[in-house]
Amino acid sequence: MTALHLEAGGFAAAATGRRKQSKKADVCLAVTLADSGAPTEHGFGEVGRKERLGASSMAEQVLRTIGPVVLLGPPGAGKGTQSKRITEHYHIPQVSTGDLLREHVKQQTPLGVDVQATLAKGELVPDHLVCDIVAWRLRQPDAERGFILDGFPRTQKQAAWLDAFLKFEFFESGKWAAWLPIVVRIQVDYNKLLLRITGRRTCPVDGTIYNIYSNPPRVDEICDNDGAKLVIRDDDRDEVIRERLDTYERQTKPVAEYYEKLGRVVMVDGDQPVDEVTEQILKQIDGRACGVASGNEGKGS
Ligand code: AP5
Repeated sequence: MTALHLEAGGFAAAATGRRKQSKKADVCLAVTLADSGAPTEHGFGEVGRKERLGASSMAEQVLRTIGPVVLLGPPGAGKGTQSKRITEHYHIPQVSTGDLLREHVKQQTPLGVDVQATLAKGELVPDHLVCDIVAWRLRQPDAERGFILDGFPRTQKQAAWLDAFLKFEFFESGKWAAWLPIVVRIQVDYNKLLLRITGRRTCPVDGTIYNIYSNPPRVDEICDNDGAKLVIRDDDRDEVIRERLDTYERQTKPVAEYYEKLGRVVMVDGDQPVDEVTEQILKQIDGRACGVASGNEGKGS
């Protein structure tokens, strides 16, 4: 067992690839299978982007091994919005720990019941629970060419765990030529964050994210795609928003600094319009995709 595993504590089993099937994992399986994870048709301006890409580029994106992409940023920075667009572009899944946890709460699984109060207060769920969910999700076949981690890692322990997990599962197993994540840090002015969070509305059916100020639906409170009534997240209440922003400062900023020290972070100006932020991110990912391990060339991964 490496120092990283020890640091990461009781969830080392997941990082070292022991795939023991527990009751908890079964619950996880049932819930996360229902979770989107896979490429979707959500998002804004995608038609224009598809036209610009052209058929051959689209095919290239489907075949490329992108590897792990981590989106870091405070609540409201646009991680969810951008993840959906990256997903559509590269056809790799979005792995949002917030969405996965909310799905557990919605379905009132044992895990959901456990974490409900923590989410409602805007505090972080214990590391070992989140790492278990992430381990299971990243082992699904649709994650073999890469994935976008949205909202994970959020503590230094989660970051250490992720490094160990990626190294073992994707590099040492011979799947990828590299395993270090591309870490995209989205920066947004604090006051704009408040406006973004209070204005957010989400479709409970297809997950599309709107904003009543900057990106409203065509009809008030109704999803453009499926006509569902939009919802406000439970943790988007004033008193909880402050706690979430404080938690980010205390526990997640050090993660950004950890990656910065290792020279892995690319900064993106999240104050720009959504399309421009997407362009910045895609440019960074294009220059850094991890590639397939040479022994696996031609195996269609
Ligand atoms: P999570 O769901 O991850 O929430 P978050 O990090 O607080 O981030 P948000 O979803 O609020 O914002 P976002 O950056 O995705 O912004 P969005 O794209 O929606 O986590 C929720 C909770 O789960 C946590 O508090 C914790 O309890 C738990 N949890 C999750 N992960 C955990 C982990 N790893 N460990 C422990 N606990 C964990 O955009 C926001 C709004 O802005 C939208 O309305 C959007 O339309 C708008 N917008 C986006 N981009 C732009 C733009 N460029 N210009 C104008 N408006 C924009």
